[in-house]
Amino acid sequence: MMFPEYRPRRLRQTEKFRALVRETTVSKDNLIYPLFAVPGKKVKEPIGSMPGVFQMSVDNIVEEAKEVFDLGLPAILLFGIPEKKDSKGSHAWIKSGIVQRAVEAVKKAVPDLLVVTDVCLCEYTSHGHCGIVVKEKKGVFQIDNDATLELLQKAALSHARAGADMVAPSDMMDGRVGAIREILDDNGFEHVPIMSYAVKYASSFYGPFRDAAECAPQFGDRRSYQMDIANRREALREATLDMEEGADILMVKPGMPYLDIISLLRQEFTLPIAAYQVSGEYSMIKAAAQNGWLTEDAVVHESLIAFRRAGADIIITYFAKDFAKASV
Ligand code: PBG
Repeated sequence: MMFPEYRPRRLRQTEKFRALVRETTVSKDNLIYPLFAVPGKKVKEPIGSMPGVFQMSVDNIVEEAKEVFDLGLPAILLFGIPEKKDSKGSHAWIKSGIVQRAVEAVKKAVPDLLVVTDVCLCEYTSHGHCGIVVKEKKGVFQIDNDATLELLQKAALSHARAGADMVAPSDMMDGRVGAIREILDDNGFEHVPIMSYAVKYASSFYGPFRDAAECAPQFGDRRSYQMDIANRREALREATLDMEEGADILMVKPGMPYLDIISLLRQEFTLPIAAYQVSGEYSMIKAAAQNGWLTEDAVVHESLIAFRRAGADIIITYFAKDFAKASV
C-alpha cells in the first residue's frame, strides 16, 4: 500500500496546529482608515451608500482620530470636501483648506497617529475631474496633464506644511510623483514619503465614494487618465514609472477584483504595496450583511487575509475600525 507523502489531515483538526503553519496573518498594524472632512461644526452626516461612514467636520474628525488611535490603528487617510469648488480646484491648496485644517487639528490632538492625505483635485473642482479641463464641448474634453502637475505640487506642499506624515496622490496624471517629490524636497520635506496610487483603474466600484466625497464628474468619465480595467501589463509600466519618480509605497486600487495585480506587483517590486478596498467593495459587503446574507466579521476578515495572501503589506479599508474592535 502506497501512502501519499503529505497527510496533514489529522493535525489540521486543531486550531493550534493550523495557527502554527498559517502562512498569512492580518493585524490592525496593517490598516489605514479613510475619513471625510467637511466644513462646519458638529457635523456628522451619514453617507447613504456607505452605512457606518460619515462626513465629519474637523471637531468630529479629531474625536474620531482619537478613537481610531485608541483602537490601536496606526493611520488615517484624509479626504476633504471644500466650502467652494472652482474650475482649478483652488481650495485644494489654500492654507485654510479643509484638509489642511483637519491635518493640523489631528496632529495637535493625536500626534502619534499617522496622518496620510489624499492629493487630488476632483473633490475641489466644479467639474469633478482630477485635473484641469480644456476644450469642453458636447462632452468632448481634454485634461491638461502638465498644468495640473503644478496644482498637485501646491496641494501636496500645503498638506506637508500642515503636518501630514505622508501624501498619497490619487489623480493619475503622468509625472506627478516626480513633481511632488521635487517640491517636497525643495521645501525641506525630504522626510515626507509618497504613497502613490500607482495602479488605479477606471473602476465602477468607486460609485459610493463619489457620494461621500461629492466628486462625481459632471460630464464624461475618468477613462482618459485612469487605467483600463482590462490591462495587466500596463500595471507594471505605471508602477515602474512611479517607483523611478520616487514613490515610497505603491498602491493598487480597487482591491478585491484586482488581487492578480497585487500579486503581480508583489513579484516584481520590493517596495511596500498597499491595496485599497474601495467604497463599492465596502458597500457590497455591508448591504449583504444588513440583509443577513453574509456574516460581516468573518467576510471582512477573509477579505483582508486575501489581500495579505496576494502580497499587500498595507490595506486601506473602511472596515479598519470594525476589524480593530473585533480583534481587541
Ligand atoms: C480620487 C479618489 C477616488 C477614490 C479615492 N481617491 C475616486 C475616483 O478616482 O473616482 C475612490 C475611493 C473609494 O472608492 O473608496 N480623489
